[in-house]
Amino acid sequence: MCGIVGYIGENDSKEILLKGLEKLEYRGYDSAGIAVRNESGITVFKEKGRIADLRAIVEDGVIGTAGIGHTRWATHGKPNRVNAHPHQNENERFTLVHNGVIENYHHIQRDYLADVQMESDTDTEIIVQLIGKFVEEGMTTEEAFSKTLGLLKGSYAIALLDAEAEDTIFVAKNKSPLLVGLGEGFNVVASDAMAMLQVTDKFLELMDKEIVIVRKDSVEILTLDGEAISRLPFTAEIDMSDIEKGTYPHYMLKEIDEQPAVMRKIIQAYQDENDKLVIQPEILDALQEADRIHIIAAGTSYHAGLIGKEYLEKMAGIPVEVHVSSEFGYNMPLLSEKPLFIFISQSGETADSRQVLVKIKELGHTSLTITNVAGSTLSREADHTLLLYAGPEIAVASTKAYTAQLAVLSILAAVTAEARGIKLGFDLVQELGIVANAIQAQIDAKEEMEQIASEFLSTTRNCFFIGRVMDYFVGLEGALKLKEISYIQAEGFAGGELKHGTIALIEEGTPVIALATQEAVNLNIRGNVKEVAARGANPCIISMEGLQEAGDSLVLPKVHELLSPLVAVIPLQLISYFAALHRDCDVDKPRNLAKSVTVE
Ligand code: F6R
Repeated sequence: MCGIVGYIGENDSKEILLKGLEKLEYRGYDSAGIAVRNESGITVFKEKGRIADLRAIVEDGVIGTAGIGHTRWATHGKPNRVNAHPHQNENERFTLVHNGVIENYHHIQRDYLADVQMESDTDTEIIVQLIGKFVEEGMTTEEAFSKTLGLLKGSYAIALLDAEAEDTIFVAKNKSPLLVGLGEGFNVVASDAMAMLQVTDKFLELMDKEIVIVRKDSVEILTLDGEAISRLPFTAEIDMSDIEKGTYPHYMLKEIDEQPAVMRKIIQAYQDENDKLVIQPEILDALQEADRIHIIAAGTSYHAGLIGKEYLEKMAGIPVEVHVSSEFGYNMPLLSEKPLFIFISQSGETADSRQVLVKIKELGHTSLTITNVAGSTLSREADHTLLLYAGPEIAVASTKAYTAQLAVLSILAAVTAEARGIKLGFDLVQELGIVANAIQAQIDAKEEMEQIASEFLSTTRNCFFIGRVMDYFVGLEGALKLKEISYIQAEGFAGGELKHGTIALIEEGTPVIALATQEAVNLNIRGNVKEVAARGANPCIISMEGLQEAGDSLVLPKVHELLSPLVAVIPLQLISYFAALHRDCDVDKPRNLAKSVTVE
């Protein structure tokens, strides 16, 4: 959460910073700010709201060839102008932006800054105040920066401007992501490469607890003790068109539409030259050796994990537990002798999942990250990585990453099954191809989903999703999609569970979206629909060819039953999209959320 940028070069920095922040807005959009430095000092512009609100107050006349910027997802302190970054120290010599959470800020304030009047309610301000104080006591900026970092507990990605240090941005990170981008006659800083692809595709990865001195023609990486570190840059392989909306009104719609292509890309990426599905042998060994798998994830990725468990158990015969990452680290179950931990994360940056990875590494267990972002923290820090190949996902609500996670999990399960001598009885490549076509058919039938959204969801204040077996897990995802972007209170339930309490909430006209794609429980879920309909609910049944009955609202094309979640989720994504649109909600940037949740 929160995104930071920096630029130092020969040109005015404002537009580059603002454009960079626009690309980082998915990381938080409560408030935003930039600071630019020139001979007369540092000028700060900041505003509550979106980058567009910030743009409106930035003065063209203020020119600065060094600048830093921030887009905020509030953790400490309300989302208002005062708490917006950049923050400055008392005499305004230092200006700083920060992504992360300083856990010991109260202690620092008490022990070092008792005499300093804080402007804001943020944890961030103590960093810049402390640097200012150490400099007043006689340290150089670099010494003060390094000493301050040594005192911080928590996560940070920081960029600092010193009004008296011409042509320098001081940068550091711990746990929060940060890259330095390299250019000719300029250098940049960004939470994520996408923000600076506008000016460069060459980036330096930064490691925790490094200090980086960025100037227009040099980048110096140092340890906290001042030892120099040399590192080669990498080229970010992201196509600009992947991160533009093009003619789409929203990223979410673009990303929903991309799903058939993503399926095909994944199949290709995991095939060898004989078109056989393959996984790196070390990963297969890790799965073979494991006596139990723990899937750790949050939100949509957790929902993908629930289906991943079905794949790994039903196809490969390995017992699997699925855990919400924010709970697991603080309430670990009894672990078996040889567990394998699989982290599922679109961004690869989710702090709740990372804290689990740190803990299980300390215990000496093996880990695999399944992520969309090569080089992300969870990918770097786990023993193994499998990539999703879904292309950048920009809309806050995850769509194509979810189906990509399911596809990769199915491949992992199928290849493991084969390695264990288990016959699947179907050709996964062929079945995933059928899935890609079935997804396309749903995408081509958008008007039907729009119709369902207006018939069932236009005025309702709540909605239930029910299903059994895998449909239950897809229902959880459908409910999450609907609530996060349309603000309709939505909950997913196992069809048989409603009558144990929740059915009390059913009133005249309450929409209940029921999934019926699983043959073994088709009659049961239809029985559950009758129970709610008898109490006044307005049921919308989404079934699959071969299982449909008269009156079903939507019939999905037939796919292999294990893979039905990949298709069943598509109408739920689209229905949520249209419900949000009809309610004039900000589809791509729903309130209170951020794409990459880098705080616990
Ligand atoms: C919902 C959504 C979130 C994420 C969750 C985990 O649409 O996107 O629930 O799935 O924050 O994020 P990652 O997958 O990046 O670890």
